Amino acid sequence: MLLQTSALSRHFAGLVAVDRVDLAIPQGGIHAVIGPNGAGKTTLFNLISGLATPTAGQISFAGQDITLLPADRRAQAGMARTFQNIRVFATMSVLDNALTGLHARLSASLPAIIARLPGFRRAERDAIARAQAALALVGLQDRAYTQAGALAYGDQRRLEIARAMAGGPRLLLLDEPAAGMNPAERAALATLIRAIAAQGTTVLLVEHDMPFVMGLSDSVTVLNFGRRIFAGPPGAARQDPGVIEAYIGHKAAVRLAGQAP
Ligand SMILES: Nc1ncnc2c1ncn2[C@@H]1O[C@H](COP(=O)(O)OP(=O)(O)OP(=O)(O)O)[C@@H](O)[C@H]1O
Ligand SMILES: [Mg+2]
Repeated sequence: MLLQTSALSRHFAGLVAVDRVDLAIPQGGIHAVIGPNGAGKTTLFNLISGLATPTAGQISFAGQDITLLPADRRAQAGMARTFQNIRVFATMSVLDNALTGLHARLSASLPAIIARLPGFRRAERDAIARAQAALALVGLQDRAYTQAGALAYGDQRRLEIARAMAGGPRLLLLDEPAAGMNPAERAALATLIRAIAAQGTTVLLVEHDMPFVMGLSDSVTVLNFGRRIFAGPPGAARQDPGVIEAYIGHKAAVRLAGQAP
């Protein structure tokens, strides 16, 4: 397994956001974590990427126990992520945004940077080439010198993926990448995610949108109230009574609360 969690938990005061979750993600392919609002999906991603500390349980990545490893060391080990809410630097160029994805991987030392020694210039050239390749992967190579804030919404989301891909990660974590996208942008995103998996990066995505996940994923893990209620192929998830109940139950609860489903 490339990524494994065992009995992973995160408590917030009285609330159990992630409750003894076992997750097993093999090397290669596209894998999804789904579940209703508040199921614990983002918290699980935060635990995996090192932005939150587990209350209990273990995480292993590429054969290494990373439970206590800081986030930057996980990035160096080959993990990259995007966020549920858009996080581009609006006044920076598209290329500079992609370059920020490489900071954990730049190897030049501080004296070399200050003196602009040849080693630094080589590292800089190498970083720019990697950032440009990541922009090409997401189809933004012609927008490198545009201000990121001037991009259309769907392109800003693609830029976040480019930034995460710039370091050549083994595992890419995408938190609701299709959120707020129109159907054409969603279709293009699905094509991009397939291309990323085809070039060898394992993809783990969190999504709300069941149809989007169903056509795309090799495996699905379903969370509800922090608990894993299903793990297996997407076709079986759709027919699983517990999964159906979690989704229908959630919609009914939302309707009772007077919000749009
Ligand atoms: N920092 C925090 N402090 C307290 N409670 C939190 C915190 N982060 C998350 N929670 C709670 O933990 C639960 C899981 O939240 P989380 O954001 O992981 O869910 P989610 O599945 O990503 O939901 P969504 O689909 O809305 O993005 C929720 O009840 C949420 O309110
Ligand atoms: Mg979330």
